[in-house]
Amino acid sequence: MKQYITHHDWQIIEDDFHDEHNRISESIFSIGNGRMGQRANFEEQFSGDSLKGSYVAGVYYPDKTRVGWWKNGYPEYFAKVLNSCNWIGIDVLVNGKALDLAKCEIRHFKRVLDMQKGFLQRNFTVQMPTGEVLHVEATRFCSLVDDESGAIRYSISCDFSGELTLSPYLDFDVVNEDSNYDEKFWEEVQRAVGNGEGYLTAATRKTDFHVCTGMQFAINKNGSTIQLDPTLTEREKYIANTIKIPVQASDQVVLYKYAANLSSENHAKDKLVENCKQVLHRITEKGFDAMLKEQASAWAERWRDSDIIIEGDVAAQQGIRFNIFQLHQTYTGEDERLNIGPKGFTGEKYGGSTYWDTEAYCLPFYLSTADERVAKNLLVYRYKHLQKAIENAEKLGFHSGAALYPMVTMNGEECHNEWEITFEEIHRNGAIAYAIYNYINYTGDYKYLSEYGLEVLIGIARFWAQRANYSNAKKAYVILGVTGPNEYENNVNNNWYTNYTAKKCLEYTLLVLDSIKEHSAERYTAIIEKTRLIEFEEQELWRDIIANMYFPVDEERGIFLQQDGFLDKEIEPVSLLPEIDQPLCQNWSWDRILRSCYIKQADVLQGLYFYEDDFDETTHRNNFDFYEPLTVHESSLSPCVHVVLAAKLGYYDKAYELYLRTARLDLDDYNNDTEDGCHITSMAGTWMAVVQGFGGMRVRDDQIHLNPFIPKQWSAYAFKIRFRGSVLNIRVEQGKVKVIHESGLPVGIVLNGQKNELFEGDEWVL
Ligand code: BGC
Repeated sequence: MKQYITHHDWQIIEDDFHDEHNRISESIFSIGNGRMGQRANFEEQFSGDSLKGSYVAGVYYPDKTRVGWWKNGYPEYFAKVLNSCNWIGIDVLVNGKALDLAKCEIRHFKRVLDMQKGFLQRNFTVQMPTGEVLHVEATRFCSLVDDESGAIRYSISCDFSGELTLSPYLDFDVVNEDSNYDEKFWEEVQRAVGNGEGYLTAATRKTDFHVCTGMQFAINKNGSTIQLDPTLTEREKYIANTIKIPVQASDQVVLYKYAANLSSENHAKDKLVENCKQVLHRITEKGFDAMLKEQASAWAERWRDSDIIIEGDVAAQQGIRFNIFQLHQTYTGEDERLNIGPKGFTGEKYGGSTYWDTEAYCLPFYLSTADERVAKNLLVYRYKHLQKAIENAEKLGFHSGAALYPMVTMNGEECHNEWEITFEEIHRNGAIAYAIYNYINYTGDYKYLSEYGLEVLIGIARFWAQRANYSNAKKAYVILGVTGPNEYENNVNNNWYTNYTAKKCLEYTLLVLDSIKEHSAERYTAIIEKTRLIEFEEQELWRDIIANMYFPVDEERGIFLQQDGFLDKEIEPVSLLPEIDQPLCQNWSWDRILRSCYIKQADVLQGLYFYEDDFDETTHRNNFDFYEPLTVHESSLSPCVHVVLAAKLGYYDKAYELYLRTARLDLDDYNNDTEDGCHITSMAGTWMAVVQGFGGMRVRDDQIHLNPFIPKQWSAYAFKIRFRGSVLNIRVEQGKVKVIHESGLPVGIVLNGQKNELFEGDEWVL
């Protein structure tokens, strides 16, 4: 854990340059707009430790799966999130010597991520090794309004006389650090450099995505525009303009750099450069200040509906806002082909963009804070990949329309190549089915089921029906050889969570089939024909599995067993583990981890979280009391689910402790891995922790249920939820809850067990 970020309500602040944590800061201070993203690398040269990262949504490279012992069914490739053109670069020379923070004396340094207005700013004063002193203020953002572009204002106040040389450039000659084979992934397609502008187009090897990055810039000195007479440099995958400016002490030179990243995912390849020019002309004409103003308004709009206010605890406030901010930077819901990568645009680790994280953790955030179509887009994404999921299952020997969705994907194909995950972590199918249920339960959009949802459910149900087998020994259906959400166990039999989620999916599919048959007979017939569902036979099998699924339990302790034989392990709580051993994944051999009782993330408890109403409070309590003390929370996805459960059980201190861990996971680098990028998908879990955990928000019987508690460290907190066309504002103070119906249709609310119906403008205080 590292605590060098200054606490502030709306800003993330690094006072002083922590070069030893530079990679962590580069992740934390990342900016993005759903289409492109940028780590907080410096504009000027930096020879210190750094992970360069400029990312363009949807662009990846299929790195060949290479393993010694090839196993049939392995995916051909592992998707790499590609580092793309460096569009932020500005080389700065002071009297011919490069400005490089690793080589100067830093007298002052401050880095601020302004989450309210959506920009990153760096201020520093340095003395060059040759004695010159200069002060720099660099401000940049990825525009939410013009979402293929970014802008930089790089302002230098000189405390020296001589010559300042500025070289804004574009560089496609970049590498991926997470590249196993030191390969480069981009080939130049074309380049053009002119006075004050330049364009570079490159194509990815194999996937042939084309990206055109363009720049335009302007410079002024002491408020007057400088007529540019740059030296043009070009070489393969690189273009630059170099301008030499004579300066005297107290001169101020400001460079405005505008950049655009256009990809062939959104533009015809032969139109990329032309369209890139248009985007650049448009934004340059607007100018930096107008763009920044628009940016602040666009962010104000995002915050209006999704902000969470926490009073009396700045660390907690900063944490939740940081999480919400990064989520908005990663996914806007504008494009149904995109999804939410675990690192978003903040790092290259975890190739691929879509994991079960989206359905299990992210969907609730978008359901409550954005227009309904955003959550729907996330579901339609999987609908569009159904055929690929069927092919994926076929590769593993399944048939007749059984669908196994990939554990990791960019385009519907599996692209993760560890067998224990690809072949065994089949519970992801359960989360996709659960998300359909969750979406319908929240929105009441039943049409979605007949248009899209049912086909997906049938594919997944068929998979479960084929993946389970009847055990004569147990006289029940079993699911063998799986990895549950707890990835610190592989190839186990009867992971309780997997068996339960399979059963629930089969039940829900049958329910939906019956309902569509009753309410929309024509559509029902069309779906039966399309999926070739053998009505009686298949459904009979599903019913039999539901009735006879095997679930490992320990009657004495009143708990579900994570898997067969779990109690054979030496059971010792995490509290007895020496600190030095943690995180286990960085200190223990994999073999030792697999044999231990330690749990990476919610597993049985994930099932209790999803299917809460199936179980009584004692069952919740027994399982929480048994499993949480064994859990090391080494997946970022872990603490949030535990917050929701702990809050429900009245374990308020635990809930608060785990809340801080999820909310400040990256800000305080809890898991010692923020340098690789931020944990974007778990950030939605942080939102869940406040709204579902502390707020106790649930949707049951078409009504909002609230059961709030407030941590003693807070004086108040407030959040908004969108629900079926209306917006509710919930404020919780010590001893008081206020619900305001801000706009929209009447909503049924159950607050601490009391029922009410609220109309627009109503205020209800309890
Ligand atoms: C977790 C998975 C998760 C993945 C991506 C892993 O560490 O164990 O559940 O899907 O990270 O976030």
